[in-house]
Amino acid sequence: MLPLIYAHRGASGLFPENTMEAFHAAVRRRADGIELDVQLSSDNKLVVIHDHQLDRTTTGSGLVRSHTLQELRQYRADKDSHSRFSKARIPTLREVFQAFSETPLRIIIELKNFLVSQPHLEDLVIEQIRRFQLTERTIISSFNFDSLLRIKELDPLQTTGLLYVGPLANPWEVASRYRADQLHVPHDQLTASVIKQSHQHGLTVLGWNLNSSRELQGALKLGVDGAITNYPGRAKKILRSL
Ligand code: G3P
Ligand code: CA
Repeated sequence: MLPLIYAHRGASGLFPENTMEAFHAAVRRRADGIELDVQLSSDNKLVVIHDHQLDRTTTGSGLVRSHTLQELRQYRADKDSHSRFSKARIPTLREVFQAFSETPLRIIIELKNFLVSQPHLEDLVIEQIRRFQLTERTIISSFNFDSLLRIKELDPLQTTGLLYVGPLANPWEVASRYRADQLHVPHDQLTASVIKQSHQHGLTVLGWNLNSSRELQGALKLGVDGAITNYPGRAKKILRSL
């Protein structure tokens, strides 16, 4: 099977990250899936944004977690006041599911609960996935491995991905301990040996932070199962040329 291309925060190399604009752009570039980040507003709505602070990517400031959904909606999700994306807003997970649940698009949902506590985030995400019958087309990833275990307790059929940055001496043992189905491996740790051993352990391997042509070409040639990239169009083009 050909490696699947996932647009990281949507087609975020060219569009404002984690916005409907970036997700639709990924679909236009024929990405197989999108990756997005989810956290909670102060009124416990599932909102799609990467940073815990609003400041870098929106016209708001302060903690996402201290704002209601209605407050978050007022901010633009592209800070550039001259941008052609002035209508871009922080989406909810529900909005993303509404837009794509009738399409074949796969969705990686990263739980952003490693640094800031997000009570019951796992329960709320599983509930939303079930409401849209998206269990088979979604992957839940997180740097918070306990959270992945909680997901498996809530739904053993939900695919999960162990997401890591720093080298893990034995990622296969860690994946087994936390019942993860996939390893989400940073590009600088992606080797033929890691892929081979993962497959021997029955784990799917997705590489992340694969953005330059060189990184993408290298990973796709190695036989990775999926690539998470800011440039899905570039990745698809490289895949066609191999
Ligand atoms: O899926 C991998 C990637 O999303 C993890 O890093 O910081 O972009 O959320 P980050
Ligand atoms: Ca992410």
